[in-house]
Amino acid sequence: MTARIDEVASDVYRISLYVPDFDLQFNHFLVKDDEPLLFHTGMRGMFPMVRDAVSTLIDPTDIRWISWSHFEVDECGALNEWLSIAPGATPVCGELGAMINIADFSNRPPRGLGRDAVLETGRHRFRFIPTPHLPHGWDAGVLFEETDRVLLCSDLLHQLGNVEPSTTADVVGRYQHALATYQASPVLMEYVPYTENTKRQLATLAALQPRTLAAMHGSTYVGDGAAALIASGEVIRQVTAAAANVSSGAHGG
Ligand SMILES: [Fe+2]
Ligand SMILES: [Fe+2]
Repeated sequence: MTARIDEVASDVYRISLYVPDFDLQFNHFLVKDDEPLLFHTGMRGMFPMVRDAVSTLIDPTDIRWISWSHFEVDECGALNEWLSIAPGATPVCGELGAMINIADFSNRPPRGLGRDAVLETGRHRFRFIPTPHLPHGWDAGVLFEETDRVLLCSDLLHQLGNVEPSTTADVVGRYQHALATYQASPVLMEYVPYTENTKRQLATLAALQPRTLAAMHGSTYVGDGAAALIASGEVIRQVTAAAANVSSGAHGG
């Protein structure tokens, strides 16, 4: 497995590993700046490959910030491996995640961000927006790069397949396909909960008017990010509602 590296926004490098067994890409984003930022550590098993890919862009020991959305192995599983090679690196995530998970999990104390707190890395400024249970996880949140309007959106707009690094195509349709596919699986079902907060939280993200949606799984979307985020809320609702109809039909019939 070899990582593919593409610059998907100014200074934002997408390091992608495709896993055929899952028909899924795992994307890690390195932001080159005065204080380099890695968003998504990747799993421990992928660490050597992601580290080698980062090494072609910067000296990985220079990484200053390590961030992610929510506590899960593809998001932050290799955090301590990165901390062991980058002596100046600090984990940075939402204050809730820092308190409930990372203060114990991490070998180095984290920096916790409150709502709308800004992390400056040099040319780039990253605003933290908590999104509890979107896409999933109490501690979930996203980082929004304000200079170039790049949303590091984690599992939102998740797409299956070994797709192109960057696209202007219909990622909402691909997202619908991915959610419906997972919903049909007895193991992967209920991937993204739909709640009364889902569309409100997506509207908050849409109000940022992102031009680029850097998805963890699938292509980075370039275009009207607000419209894609709003449309994704209806996709989550419909996939959830269809599943509820199937299960109530099964029990009632
Ligand atoms: Fe996740
Ligand atoms: Fe993920």
